[in-house]
Amino acid sequence: MADKKATLKVDGIEEVLELPVYEGSVGPDVVDVRSLTGKGLFTYDPGFVSTAATESKITYIDGAAGVLLHRGYPIDQLAEKSDYLETCFLLLHGELPSAEQKETFVSTIKNHTMVHEQLSHFFNGFRRDAHPMAIMCGVVGALSAFYHDSLDIHDEHHRMVSAHRLIAKMPTLAAMVYKYSIGQPFMYPQNELTYSENFLHMMFNTPCEEKKISPILAKAMDRIFLLHADHEQNASTSTVRLAGSTGANPFACIASGIAALWGPAHGGANEAVLNMLNEIGDESNIDAFVAKAKDKEDPFRLMGFGHRVYKNFDPRAKVMKQTCDEVLAELGMEDDPLLKIAMKLEKIATEDEYFIKRGLYPNVDFYSGIILKAIGIPTEMFTVIFATGRTPGWIAHWNEMISSDYRIGRPRQLYTGYPKRDYPA
Ligand code: SDX
Repeated sequence: MADKKATLKVDGIEEVLELPVYEGSVGPDVVDVRSLTGKGLFTYDPGFVSTAATESKITYIDGAAGVLLHRGYPIDQLAEKSDYLETCFLLLHGELPSAEQKETFVSTIKNHTMVHEQLSHFFNGFRRDAHPMAIMCGVVGALSAFYHDSLDIHDEHHRMVSAHRLIAKMPTLAAMVYKYSIGQPFMYPQNELTYSENFLHMMFNTPCEEKKISPILAKAMDRIFLLHADHEQNASTSTVRLAGSTGANPFACIASGIAALWGPAHGGANEAVLNMLNEIGDESNIDAFVAKAKDKEDPFRLMGFGHRVYKNFDPRAKVMKQTCDEVLAELGMEDDPLLKIAMKLEKIATEDEYFIKRGLYPNVDFYSGIILKAIGIPTEMFTVIFATGRTPGWIAHWNEMISSDYRIGRPRQLYTGYPKRDYPA
């Protein structure tokens, strides 16, 4: 039971309403407003700025302090000491795996990396120049047409099989999307490769030539996947939860998350950052773009800047910048012109009162695109990379909800339309 209470006096309602207040292990308390419907009241919170939609144990964010914890472990420590598949296990199961558990998990993922051969026919229906995210929405949703043996969402084993299949197959599908766009044959996954080596193999090797995958690029790819793995109740994760609350199968729920992630205000920002840096073109143009971003009459916003939760800095951006420096140095690309524009833009913006006052700093998307470009991944594939990295987070939240005593999500509204009126006689 809640020890703390909130009291609410509402004009027009005689009684003083008492609402339970719950404490988390860390972070803000929450006021339980479920009883308000019975009093003929709704809460009003467009954009869910101050709404806790669920209880969760997976990820904690402190926006003011720039803290991001996955099952309690800080993101910078995971980025330095862990790897992507170990972080996937952590998000799914709540604890870091033992050496034996990790070996089993890695082997399980490896043995699910191939997709049903008939899935490759789905691609032929798309134009070669289709946006890669349009294809990903389609082919990931289509996975439910192939895996009927793991769709009982109330069976824990089925949920884990679906989780393994999704984590394993996303890189394969992502690489297929890229190969289809450049007219090259699909490459099959190779079980002797690591997760990130395999992805780069499927992206850049061909049947005519199988180059050894650079360990530098594989490590950078693994770090990028890890930094995108989960992020609390963001727009796409909330979409996955809402879709899951209806009982939809996990493949359909992840497809809904991919669709939500596509928007430039969310996961589409990494692609938009590169397009913006290319449009700026030269450091001499930065001031004009910063002015546009501050102009209320201009819809332009500085892509890769700002965040609903982080108001000082995004801890992922710090690690991403460090990775960016490492990768470009190791590739001899320290003088990358886009990096120079990005660093100058960051300096100008973070010293500008408009951005400081609004707590606008580089977010996870600001530097990731420069690394992806250095790895050789085309800009329109960036959000596909984000979706691939975020899959364990989406599926962990879906699994946490389905394992709990959940209800279908069904928000209400403040109605300001016409009251009842009769059809003209
Ligand atoms: C991701 O939620 C998550 O966790 C998402 C994510 C994840 O891992 O899942 O972290 C991934 O989506 C990162 C964000 C990527 N998006 C971008 O980089 C696009 C650019 N950023 C903005 O669109 C914006 O900052 C948002 C969408 C990220 C946040 O929007 P909010 O919280 O609704 O903030 P807001 O629109 O209310 O802005 C507050 C003020 C406004 O000015 P005022 O009306 O107060 O004068 O800040 C301004 C905004 O105009 N503002 C910006 C700006 N972002 C906000 N002005 C210029 N450039 C910007 N980028």
